[in-house]
Amino acid sequence: MKFSILTLFPDFFSSPLQESILKRAIEKQQISVETINIRDFSDNSYKRIDAKPFGGGAGMLMQAEPIAKAIESVKNGEEEYEVIFFTPSAPELTQKDSYELAKNNTHKVFLCGHYEGVDQRVIEKYVDKQFSVGKTVLTGGEIPALLCLDSIVRLLPNVISKEKSHERETFSAELYGKGEYPQFTRPENWRGIEVPKVLLSGNHADIEKYQLENLKNCSTEEIQIIIFREKYKNKKFKLEKNIYVELLPYFIGTDLNILEFKIFTKNTRSIKLVTDVISIDVNILNFENANKQGNQISTDVYFENFIFEKVASLFRLSEK
Ligand SMILES: C[S@@+](CC[C@H](N)C(=O)[O-])C[C@H]1O[C@@H](n2cnc3c(N)ncnc32)[C@H](O)[C@@H]1O
Repeated sequence: MKFSILTLFPDFFSSPLQESILKRAIEKQQISVETINIRDFSDNSYKRIDAKPFGGGAGMLMQAEPIAKAIESVKNGEEEYEVIFFTPSAPELTQKDSYELAKNNTHKVFLCGHYEGVDQRVIEKYVDKQFSVGKTVLTGGEIPALLCLDSIVRLLPNVISKEKSHERETFSAELYGKGEYPQFTRPENWRGIEVPKVLLSGNHADIEKYQLENLKNCSTEEIQIIIFREKYKNKKFKLEKNIYVELLPYFIGTDLNILEFKIFTKNTRSIKLVTDVISIDVNILNFENANKQGNQISTDVYFENFIFEKVASLFRLSEK
């Protein structure tokens, strides 16, 4: 995947691009990253590219023309491009966005703002997507561009070692955006503090239970939903005779409690998608009803049946 970063500070990127995953991905030619100095497209000998905003206001703005020329300089007419501008007022970049950006192999052109920002006309003419990287104002778009680059690159095929991506596939706590469970490494006893015994037991089910129950920032209800998601993700399972459902994957940035299902009919000859996605907001189903055991965490079939009955009734409604 190709990245072009348009910036007033190309040197900002030299060190991060020479470290860790980004460095390896460049060396293995899985990505190429070029930095383009917007000042090179200035039309004056002082290399100025900023001017006072019309209508007054504090600070300076980046002018449209040097930015337009910098963008045009990376377009060779053959490839597909996406121009991405970073600004605090845009929607926040989520893991779901990073997945989508990683999935589509377009040439990514990152525009880093500076000063008070960028002339609106160049944004409207050239920018395809805008992201913020948090509810705080930074000096320039360089840190947001690096953050976005890193989040995309680690999702590209074969960039992170196979084992690690497999780990994420089989147990996707990271993908639930709920923080991590506590982790420990050698020695087993560090300054008198022991590692929880269950982690040394080798019992995969008990370890997974421990990890789920110790997810940070996670309510009891959310753990119940995660257990359900873990159990049914990437599988088609039988709802009733000849009718199968598939739970769609979860991405950080979407609601954990919204379960989305595809419905299929299946017989010996064929499997066919039969409805639009059916979605269920588990929060508005009454958890007290859904889970007979009240606030206890469980993989209780009662909870699962409750969800499946809901899906089945929505499916029947959609058929009418
Ligand atoms: C000092 S900021 C400009 C802030 C702008 N006047 C405002 O209040 O929204 C300069 C540049 O840094 C980048 N930037 C700063 N904070 C950001 C954030 N939270 N997310 C994405 N980009 C940011 C943008 O490219 C922005 O144009």
